[in-house]
Amino acid sequence: MSVTVRAPAKINVYLGVGKARPDGFHPLETVYQAVSLYDDVTVTDAEEWSVTTVTDGPHVDGSAIPDDDTNIVIRAGKALAAHHGVDRKAGIEVRKSIPVAGGMAGGSADAAATLVALDRLWNLNTADADLLELAAELGSDVPFALVGGTATGTGRGEVVTPVEDNGTWWWVVVFNDEGLSTPSVYGAYDLLEGGDHDYRIQPAMLDALRDGADSDSLAVFLYNDLEDAAFYLRPDLERAAEAALECGATMTLLSGSGPTMLAIASGAEDARNIAGMLTGRGFDRTAVVHGPVAGAHVVAYG
Ligand code: C5P
Repeated sequence: MSVTVRAPAKINVYLGVGKARPDGFHPLETVYQAVSLYDDVTVTDAEEWSVTTVTDGPHVDGSAIPDDDTNIVIRAGKALAAHHGVDRKAGIEVRKSIPVAGGMAGGSADAAATLVALDRLWNLNTADADLLELAAELGSDVPFALVGGTATGTGRGEVVTPVEDNGTWWWVVVFNDEGLSTPSVYGAYDLLEGGDHDYRIQPAMLDALRDGADSDSLAVFLYNDLEDAAFYLRPDLERAAEAALECGATMTLLSGSGPTMLAIASGAEDARNIAGMLTGRGFDRTAVVHGPVAGAHVVAYG
């Protein structure tokens, strides 16, 4: 018996960052959107915990992913088993399309998918509130990967509140060869900016999402407080943003803590055109995605 769960990548269409808290985390006001780039996690009962990673697509380099108990999917599985006091183990296969250390919460998606898959495999019927709590302990972005859609994130990002989003927003994703560590970007942010400013979500941005009109109505609100810090660490990222604008995008945005860059497009065809033009300029590792899409969900029973 096996269960496969699909979990989406996320982007932050708005990311406001405050001053570091005593525990080292930064208070956030963010608007998450789940987008159509997915990892699939398959779990099977086993005598011992194990994880295998299969990478899909040229933009995913799985070489840095641990294959031991430090892998977030095994931590997720053990946390769920401990929560229910069950002595069970699983073999976990992760089929990755979300870039590693790319600012799209790929590891968080895998952890969320593992929680849902093992809950189903073991017939645990875990309450949603408990799953969200387990998810928050695994990482700030994990609860959102369970919920999906479009949602605000507060606290350190783990307090997720769905918001109404009637749009279908199209994005060009520009991948990068070299991952960027999230703590290093927050560290650069502390040095450069420190978070002493108003970082709240503008209510008008939530109105634009609810109205779901054209991309220009959302583009004006796209913002990421970590962008300067990421550009400081990796000046090459700014060139990807400039190129996307020259190729017709109205607005670009760093995805999460980077290094993936995003460009908003007016529709699927516009997105494909921008991606094609970027390829012609040497930015040949791109994807066209749309959001919002569903959070972690079962796609197969074996
Ligand atoms: O919660 P998560 O494990 O994803 O966080 C990874 C790292 O990112 C943290 O150890 C911290 O350095 C940084 N972080 C932060 N503030 C947040 C979320 C993450 O400083 N709100």
